[in-house]
Amino acid sequence: MRILVTGASGWIGSAAVTELLAAGHQVVGLARSDASAARIAALGADVRRGDIDDTDGLRAAAADSEGVVHLGYNHDFSRMAEAAATDRAAIEALGAGLAGTGHPLLIAAGTLGVAFGRVITESDIPDATLHPRTANATVALSLADTGVRPIVVRFAPTVHGAGDHGFISTLVQVAKTKNLSGYAGDGANRWPAVHVRDAATLIRLAVEDAPAGSVLHAAAEEGIPARRIAEAIGNGLNLPVAPIPATDLDEHFGWIGRFFAADAPASSEATRTLRGWKPTHPTLLDDLTAGHYFH
Ligand SMILES: NC(=O)c1ccc[n+]([C@@H]2O[C@H](COP(=O)([O-])OP(=O)(O)OC[C@H]3O[C@@H](n4cnc5c(N)ncnc54)[C@H](OP(=O)(O)O)[C@@H]3O)[C@@H](O)[C@H]2O)c1
Repeated sequence: MRILVTGASGWIGSAAVTELLAAGHQVVGLARSDASAARIAALGADVRRGDIDDTDGLRAAAADSEGVVHLGYNHDFSRMAEAAATDRAAIEALGAGLAGTGHPLLIAAGTLGVAFGRVITESDIPDATLHPRTANATVALSLADTGVRPIVVRFAPTVHGAGDHGFISTLVQVAKTKNLSGYAGDGANRWPAVHVRDAATLIRLAVEDAPAGSVLHAAAEEGIPARRIAEAIGNGLNLPVAPIPATDLDEHFGWIGRFFAADAPASSEATRTLRGWKPTHPTLLDDLTAGHYFH
């Protein structure tokens, strides 16, 4: 298939491009800068210059493809509502470009925030009032009515591996700054995780075969206790590990505190029925033991 990938220069996008190319697909990566174009070209993909703000360009790019993987996103936390609105417009434009073709449109979402304190499944419907982005998955799924094959992949909050610049590397930075690897409460709250290459495999399988309207969980591990994560970070940095009182979470961790304190496990049982998706790459704790987060 000729697949357009937005966010192809990013963390998950780069792995997805590599996976899709290795499976024999033709990949066109959307690039908004020379640097991103060079990163995408170095992966072996074709480059299409464009921006996720440019809906006409997205529509045309999607129409030139046989399927879209939409991973581009503006993660500026000071502009969350604006980023979500841009994402929604981008999804609608990509969907318009694919309308009537039956081609896949895979969009990214997160497992975090669907529900707390219990194991969520792919059939859980998130509370759209929690985050301005949440409703975008519903918008994507509704495109099935227009002859698109929409797929939502909810990624675990930690898509880990060498080169990760997301949640786990942020926790490592916090620990370095505070000279302490902390966790909230008794540290029993759980975080799901997936290795970036297992996530990439799931993306490929989904684009190839997932039925219209699929909601999938890129969560290789259902939930790792936060205390185990903090201990692995403490070991890696040779720092003490300690609980942080609830009243000090914001001060200690910054923005990531409220996420790291959440109990948010996610099952991928239904997802694994998709052509037998079976994660094979290192677990989060193995990845933390490997040392690359601490160089
Ligand atoms: N990583 C995780 O743990 C995780 C967890 C849950 C959900 N997700 C979701 O999965 C998706 C991919 O995440 P990621 O970690 O791979 O993100 P990332 O590394 O931050 O990559 C973001 C990508 O979006 C592109 N982008 C941003 N603004 C753009 C614009 N205006 N025009 C064109 N491209 C633009 C970036 O291009 P440049 O190279 O030009 O900056 C980059 O390729 C996102 O939707 C993210 O929210 C990720």
